[in-house]
Amino acid sequence: MKALIVGGGGREHAIAWKLAADDPTLELIAAPGNPGIATLARCEPIAATDVDALVALARREGVGLVVVGPEAPLDLGLVDALRAAGIPAFGPTAAAARIESSKRFSKELMQRAGVPTAAASTHTDPASARAAVRALGAPVVIKASGIAAGKGVIIALSIDEADAAIDAMLVDHAFGSAGAEVLVEAFMQGEECSLFVLTDGTNALPLLPVQDHKRIGVGDTGPNTGGMGAYAPVSIVPDARVAEAMRLIIEPTLRAMRDAGTPFTGLLYAGLMYTNDGPMVVEFNCRFGDPETQAILPMMASSLLEPMLTIARGESLANAPAVRWHEGASVTTVVAAPGYPGPITTGASIALPADAEGVVVFHAGTARDASGALRTAGGRVVAVTARAASFAAAQRASRAAAAGVRFEGAQFRDDIGWREQARLDARTP
Ligand code: GLY
Repeated sequence: MKALIVGGGGREHAIAWKLAADDPTLELIAAPGNPGIATLARCEPIAATDVDALVALARREGVGLVVVGPEAPLDLGLVDALRAAGIPAFGPTAAAARIESSKRFSKELMQRAGVPTAAASTHTDPASARAAVRALGAPVVIKASGIAAGKGVIIALSIDEADAAIDAMLVDHAFGSAGAEVLVEAFMQGEECSLFVLTDGTNALPLLPVQDHKRIGVGDTGPNTGGMGAYAPVSIVPDARVAEAMRLIIEPTLRAMRDAGTPFTGLLYAGLMYTNDGPMVVEFNCRFGDPETQAILPMMASSLLEPMLTIARGESLANAPAVRWHEGASVTTVVAAPGYPGPITTGASIALPADAEGVVVFHAGTARDASGALRTAGGRVVAVTARAASFAAAQRASRAAAAGVRFEGAQFRDDIGWREQARLDARTP
């Protein structure tokens, strides 16, 4: 069978790596892919957002499965178009993808479904948004309702900062149409952890809890990024808490999506805050996280291909076995280009670390030049994942491998998993 993976980042490399491991006879095609994916798949130079060309490619190749990685093609209706062409596609329809692409849709859905989340109101008028900020007090969260490339969430520590964020979105249109509507949301205190589920719209298989590191700097300092690293599992979310999140959050959300006439199928990403009052939803995403996927998939002992195929074919997961996991832990460290998350320089020559047991290098912002040499071509260049018998060993191996990725100006955080490390240290007598 042929499978097409849409996208060209580290997440899609991890998905390709896992599918190739699940079924070595699978013929993988990627669009557009990247040099890492090219070691596993035939890459076609088609943009992930070119819906017509992707449907034509899938049809021409007779693929039995399309896996859509990023949110943009989901929002553009790629899955709708593939299904209309009779091609099994893993991912939600555009209507269901609004759980990520419209924070207003998502918040109203949660409020209807009684899913725990911060109080919020939606505004298109700056004066009413400012009044909502004053009613909540600082700190307060200002969110662009649409997709703003991970930059549309501002945690304002003062009323002045909140007003500035509102002006940037509603007056200066800094986020274009994504910021034409804003949410003013109560600030939540606690520790974040994400739970991903594979779902047919009714039944859901939880994956390992995972923690992202969004800030650029050590100790969670500096500006937000797409994610500088992740680890799994997360000890504050043991199995009993996964079961609780399924009952309180995932099941009512899937029910509300069905009731709205937009059942959600594919991968639902629940960004959770573990507060003193229990888990609350920070955000939903309609696709795998990046770099969380690079941490989770190397831990997956059972097949990803099987539940993906079941979902893409519109079949039921009711009798699907639970996902099985390797013992131990994984730690993923992103190595980024100089300047990231601001303006970056690209084109630097890259040397990758020597192969090491349990370590995988997932490519993201890499490209081959005319001579075939590997060069930087994006903000997050590679993500190195180490899986080991213990968290501490995985963390050490991930750091060492990241240090072995060499290019001019390379930057990475050497403290991925610092909260987990602090918990482990506190337990050691
Ligand atoms: N790492 C955050 C995200 O994928 O949205």
